[in-house]
Amino acid sequence: MHGNSLPQLGKNPIREVIAELAVDEKVCLVTGLGMEMPGLPPSFQAPVVGTSESARVPGAAGSTYAVPRLGIPSMVLADGPAGVRISPQRKNDSNSSYYCTAFPIATLLASSWDIKLVEQVGRAMGLEAKEYGVDILLAPALNIHRIPLGGRNFEYYSEDPLVSGKMAAAMVKGVQSQGVGASVKHYVANNHEWNRNTINVVADQRAMREIYLRGFEIAVKEGKPWTVMSSYNKLNGTYTSERNDLLSEILRDQWGFAGFVMTDWFGGRNAVAQLVAGNDLLMPGTARQQEILLEALKDEKLDESVLDKVIENILGTLQKCPVFSGYQYSDNPDLKGNAHIARTAAAEGMVLLQNHHGALPLAGKIRLGVFGNSSYEMVTGGTGSGDVNKAYSVSLLQGLDEAGFSIHGELEKSYPGYISAETAKLPPRQPFTVPARIPERSLPDDEINQIALDTDVALITLGRNSGEFADREITGDFDLSQAERQLLVSVADAYHRAGKKVVVILNIGGVVETASWRDQVDAILLAWQPGQESGYAIVDVLSGNVNPSGKLATTFAISVDDYPSAQNFPGVVLEEAEPNDFTAVLAAKAAEVVYEDSIWVGYRAFNTRKVETAFPFGHGLSYTRFSYGDLRLSSGEFIDELTASVTVTNTGKVAGREVVQLYISAPPGTLVKPASELRAFGKTRLLRPQESQTLSFVITTVDLASFDPVDTMWIADVGEYTIEIGASSIDIRKTEHFQKTEASRIPV
Ligand code: BGC
Repeated sequence: MHGNSLPQLGKNPIREVIAELAVDEKVCLVTGLGMEMPGLPPSFQAPVVGTSESARVPGAAGSTYAVPRLGIPSMVLADGPAGVRISPQRKNDSNSSYYCTAFPIATLLASSWDIKLVEQVGRAMGLEAKEYGVDILLAPALNIHRIPLGGRNFEYYSEDPLVSGKMAAAMVKGVQSQGVGASVKHYVANNHEWNRNTINVVADQRAMREIYLRGFEIAVKEGKPWTVMSSYNKLNGTYTSERNDLLSEILRDQWGFAGFVMTDWFGGRNAVAQLVAGNDLLMPGTARQQEILLEALKDEKLDESVLDKVIENILGTLQKCPVFSGYQYSDNPDLKGNAHIARTAAAEGMVLLQNHHGALPLAGKIRLGVFGNSSYEMVTGGTGSGDVNKAYSVSLLQGLDEAGFSIHGELEKSYPGYISAETAKLPPRQPFTVPARIPERSLPDDEINQIALDTDVALITLGRNSGEFADREITGDFDLSQAERQLLVSVADAYHRAGKKVVVILNIGGVVETASWRDQVDAILLAWQPGQESGYAIVDVLSGNVNPSGKLATTFAISVDDYPSAQNFPGVVLEEAEPNDFTAVLAAKAAEVVYEDSIWVGYRAFNTRKVETAFPFGHGLSYTRFSYGDLRLSSGEFIDELTASVTVTNTGKVAGREVVQLYISAPPGTLVKPASELRAFGKTRLLRPQESQTLSFVITTVDLASFDPVDTMWIADVGEYTIEIGASSIDIRKTEHFQKTEASRIPV
């Protein structure tokens, strides 16, 4: 067939279009157009065919092959979870810039417990992606916070699968409402960075279903993402990108996923096994993969029908993309409007961990001693693919200045000089890596004493950064450094001696140790990494313009050793294993980690084993107080579902919002269960003093069930169940019981 008589994607059935493709075109369609990265060995090099198309959106993570004669355009894929990541400048284009909005990190968004807000952020990100010519946004990421040392925890939501799944579903809905695709990643069990391309995660079926897969299940069923990204790691001996059970049986047959699966960048090993398992697109795509696929087809080790099937998945999704409808993107998204959304979201997800003697909100436009390197150079987000090239970021100082606070002049003048001098001493930063942290500035005690006399309140910001390729350390990262401790002690002594208060702001992407020093300071505001509007959003909360309403979606334990996962973290090197591409390029070693902690992750472990924490899951304070009315159940007996309602009243003096958490404890039964598990949550609107709102939650059978690995079923036993309504996972305000008289068995 020639010219107009050729079938066209969108006009003719996909199978007719596929029938027109030559074998080498099929191979090109299932391997992306590659990635230019200096220093990559030959097996990581971009394919020979088609690379020029990837230049449409410079700095995007990847793109796909086009076959214009059949109406198949090239899709552009760009990161990521905190906003669109593309190059802000372009060669031969000095008139325009292509900056994107740096939204707050996912962990902050989850701490808002506000699904509508997360959907709104998703809409803003989706619109930005679309207006910059991106078809698929490589977000959200929802791996579980298994241990606080996970280098990419900031990109992920929570230690709890319900929170993770609901947040991810909201993000997917928001992004896709704009007509661009989302990519739910990294599927699955990529919970830390150590040897991430080679590590074999050994995990049991129950932990997989209840903890690691559950969030993905919710995100896929409720969010209906156009794409899923498989993870780098192996699971029980096989790369996730090569596992038919994960990619076909669970994802498609059991959960109804209808889009396409892509690998993580250079993920997995065996291109043939990946396609056969249902991993449709190999990203970013290499020349070597194309050679291997062509050879396999020739040797009849790969059936062409496998290519046809995965291409059908890819083309089905491509038809929904902006590029397919010829959308004329503006390269001019509403960055101003999105900055506003970023600021609102940032303030909503900050958590007031501690507030002794009403230290916050700050009373009036007072004089402040502003300490800590990070007050002057904030960490707005993490590094690597979770980073965003933003036009600017607002520092705490700028936020305070603009809000009319007066800042101790000497400190304001001397910190920037110290920071630049110390930064100049650091070795040059390699692209994509976490910048080294300069030592916390130490100040002589007499200087601090004088500043304490000259100002009203001390603010001390402690900052942390992390990102791809490395996990965090305990010394000087989870734990405070010696210099940070010294600063805290000296400032707290001086201010307390002068009868003044000390507020610590945690500008972090993951949990840090707080138990040993929290009593030395008055208030602790967990600001997370709040994105480009950091300074404004923090000051919104410090000043009381926004009443904090965030709660922890991840536990602040006393020590890393308290996390059951610490027993096996990060894993062991398998000495006998053969070197492979990753060992050469990334100095990765074949390694293994056993998830011996099974389902005992986060609060499930702490609350069941009664391990004291620094701040428990679900904790967060407000500038007002809330009372909880009676917990009402629609019935004392559970048949197919049940509704629980509770009325929350603002009994304090200022307007505020409350996060309401519903936990369920099951009767003793077939399987050992956590003391209680989060099964629903909600957030009130902004309630004025004395105002009330009733929140209702529908509980279904699956909310009572645990996964039985023997029968491969969700089972809910008979007996008396307890519903607890909490202001945190241990601050339970109301309790009710109901009976279940018939056991339930729910197939996967
Ligand atoms: C990351 C992914 C990311 C991809 C493309 C990988 O290194 O793990 O999350 O989407 O790069 O940038």
